[in-house]
Amino acid sequence: MKSILVTGCNRGIGLELIKQLVALSKPPQHVLATVRQPDKAKELQELASANKSIHILQIDLKDLKSYKPLSKEVGEIVGDDGLNVLLNSAGISSKFARLQYLKAEQLEEHFLVNTIAPTMLTKALLPLIKVAASRSSSPPGLSKGLIVNMSSILGSISSNTTGGLYPYRASKSALNAITRSLSLEVKDDGIIALSLHPGWVKTDMGGPKAPLTVQESVSKILQTLSSLEARHNGQFIQFDGQELPW
Ligand SMILES: NC(=O)c1ccc[n+]([C@@H]2O[C@H](COP(=O)([O-])OP(=O)(O)OC[C@H]3O[C@@H](n4cnc5c(N)ncnc54)[C@H](OP(=O)(O)O)[C@@H]3O)[C@@H](O)[C@H]2O)c1
Repeated sequence: MKSILVTGCNRGIGLELIKQLVALSKPPQHVLATVRQPDKAKELQELASANKSIHILQIDLKDLKSYKPLSKEVGEIVGDDGLNVLLNSAGISSKFARLQYLKAEQLEEHFLVNTIAPTMLTKALLPLIKVAASRSSSPPGLSKGLIVNMSSILGSISSNTTGGLYPYRASKSALNAITRSLSLEVKDDGIIALSLHPGWVKTDMGGPKAPLTVQESVSKILQTLSSLEARHNGQFIQFDGQELPW
């Protein structure tokens, strides 16, 4: 893999992905990390000063108009090689459990950040991913073209036996539906698109009771991504590669 762009890299899974990517024995040439407020992303800034492969890009993913200038910036960094991997990690989750307390704005915000943003960012960056895929003689996988939508088991409709969490569940289910359509659209370009559940992870979102540390989750995620093949296109998998029910 020559290049990867990860969203939401000031904390949580996004930040850990950047840490582990630059520590790989063969790190990508370009590691593009998006954050809302670069000045406040201290850990990422420190990592970037020690690793010249890291490019910090500013974007609030709610601002859909900034996707075009972002894709131009990405194009200037990756050049003729295009972009190999887009990992849509940024997301939000609220705890509203009951319909009685649900507000339309909560649904709107979750759909904007968790569904519309990764979809429209993929649309903006797909031309660069297609360039990378067409220039690589590798079989489908990490070093060709890959789009990973960070989903959640809570977005699995068939596994939902406890209910609640309407905005989060619905926005991730919709993202899963989009991943599936996308996978069919990019298949002929040799690009893989999949939905990934990182496990229940100790981050601000996952909370302290989560069984997985962010280091464990991300290390398994990177192992899983490195072993992807064409058959994984359009799948819903978790951090360790296990397939999940839609
Ligand atoms: N942790 C878990 O147990 C778990 C389980 C299943 C799925 N997931 C999924 O994994 C992904 C990462 O989760 P996490 O645990 O790392 O969450 P987290 O620690 O809460 O971090 C969320 C990240 O998303 C960014 N973000 C949120 N809204 C944004 C916006 N409008 N524009 C740009 N960035 C925005 C945040 O940036 P700011 O700091 O600027 O807000 C932050 O970097 C999410 O998609 C989540 O749904 C997590």
